[in-house]
Amino acid sequence: MFAIEYLEQEHSYILKLTNRIEEESLKILNGENVDIDFFKNSVLYIKKFADAEHHKKEEDIFFKYMVENLGAVAEKLIKNGMLVEHDMARFYILSLSEAISSYEENGDDKSKLYIITNAMNYAELLRRHIDKENNVVYTFGERELSEEVKNKIEEEMKNRVKEEKINEDEKNSLLEKLNIVM
Ligand SMILES: [Fe+2]
Ligand SMILES: [Fe+2]
Repeated sequence: MFAIEYLEQEHSYILKLTNRIEEESLKILNGENVDIDFFKNSVLYIKKFADAEHHKKEEDIFFKYMVENLGAVAEKLIKNGMLVEHDMARFYILSLSEAISSYEENGDDKSKLYIITNAMNYAELLRRHIDKENNVVYTFGERELSEEVKNKIEEEMKNRVKEEKINEDEKNSLLEKLNIVM
């Protein structure tokens, strides 16, 4: 399915970012200065692309049709699993932004610790989350949804991706600043 291929491609960028976050967090542990621009750009990418585009497409399109059509198991998997984790990710990113601001103001060790903690919580959460989606949730949807529903998903996903084209340049420029190459 186009929808799944596109979402998995977005996952590969998010996973690269989690690796960069780990690298930058390790540098802080090893006594280097906090790369404020890296963490600010990571927050920007995550809010605008990993969340407002990627998570939103899952929530509005793929997961919506799974919950509507695949009964109690899908509802539990999506609502108690995937959607809760999207909210946890938002919480970690909010806390990371606060820690960055606090570090900019005070330059203290405690803020540094909160930058590392929240950045790595996000990275680890998203790694597990993406693994579940790629190997359990998407495959379950593709196997169980009717052709009719899958066609609706494909169409809505293609339209949404077209709408998102307007942000393409900003996305690529952020990826470049984050030193993420595919
Ligand atoms: Fe997700
Ligand atoms: Fe995802």
